[in-house]
Amino acid sequence: MNGHDPIATTRLGAHGPLVGVQGLGCMGMSEFYGVSDRDESRATLELALDRGVSLIDTADMYGSGDNERFIGPVIRARRADVLIASKFGFVRTPGEGLNFSLDNRPEYIRRAIDETLRRLNIETLDLYYMHRRVKDVPLAESVGAMADLVTAGKVRYLGLSEVTAQELQEAHSIHPITAVQSEWSLFARDVEAEVVPMAAELGIAFVPYAPLGRGMLTGAGLTGAEGDIRGLLPQFGGAAGEHNRQLAAQVTALAGQLGVTAAQVALAWVHQRAQVHGLTVVPIPGTRRRVRLQENLAALTLRLDAQALASLDALAASVQGQRLV
Ligand SMILES: NC(=O)c1ccc[n+]([C@@H]2O[C@H](COP(=O)([O-])OP(=O)(O)OC[C@H]3O[C@@H](n4cnc5c(N)ncnc54)[C@H](OP(=O)(O)O)[C@@H]3O)[C@@H](O)[C@H]2O)c1
Repeated sequence: MNGHDPIATTRLGAHGPLVGVQGLGCMGMSEFYGVSDRDESRATLELALDRGVSLIDTADMYGSGDNERFIGPVIRARRADVLIASKFGFVRTPGEGLNFSLDNRPEYIRRAIDETLRRLNIETLDLYYMHRRVKDVPLAESVGAMADLVTAGKVRYLGLSEVTAQELQEAHSIHPITAVQSEWSLFARDVEAEVVPMAAELGIAFVPYAPLGRGMLTGAGLTGAEGDIRGLLPQFGGAAGEHNRQLAAQVTALAGQLGVTAAQVALAWVHQRAQVHGLTVVPIPGTRRRVRLQENLAALTLRLDAQALASLDALAASVQGQRLV
């Protein structure tokens, strides 16, 4: 595979659509990781589609709607190439910074999808996730409302983000769940205990978000740029942050010995862990730069040997700080 060939495809879950084996996270194009170059972000999205990356990930809360509006024109122009995924659940008020509440009520979901479709300016969303579960709304009510959107032709497939194995099972018994999206990386492995095995058992695809540890695993460090909130996260700040950066430096050193980059090691690791668990994964590394997109897609040809995997396991076991859910 060179920098022009399309990547391989896989089925998103037992009965889902075919997608490129790696997707693209678009969140950083609008918010959270500092100021973005809009032209370079758009070019990155275009190049991703050229390379067969089809699972394009956004959410209504990224930039309080900005992300859906930003990627909408590219998605519309290349509709057949794209499996566009968005999410509902975080309620934000423009001008109120990072403050949010959560809403899973059916009436909210019905309003949220209409707004997402309007911002993207499309008729049907391919994959709609519940971004976070709110415990005081029965899951059956929320998933029932999501299933009604499929019947109404507004959504094709359903997904859930950051749910427990039991919630995944219950939701799947109400309406087939195509994908579960949660953080899964060398630095965030808790899903391997229950959620990953449950997804494997039910034939639900796993979409690992932040597979690069929100950038930490690439060794690129933090820019400290205005609007970059990562310094506030438990795994990035204080003594835990210092410790984890040292671990990341060891990933970079190992990558150097293999003649690849740390980002490529991190991505190859997720793909190989999925094989161990016997399930389909379509990681969605986020990038706003074409050169990094190409680097991340080149990870698909990397195969880590047992010795490298053992070294990485040891590093993963000593990560400090709670991951942000
Ligand atoms: N469901 C949820 O609750 C949830 C939560 C968080 C994120 N997500 C989704 O998951 C996607 C990915 O997660 P994420 O963006 O938070 O974290 P990530 O993919 O682990 O890391 C993204 C960071 O890594 C940098 N990066 C990417 N490739 C690189 C490379 N080859 N070398 C050096 N740096 C590189 C990016 O910078 P540049 O952009 O400047 O290249 C960005 O700062 C998001 O875009 C979003 O769609 C979902």
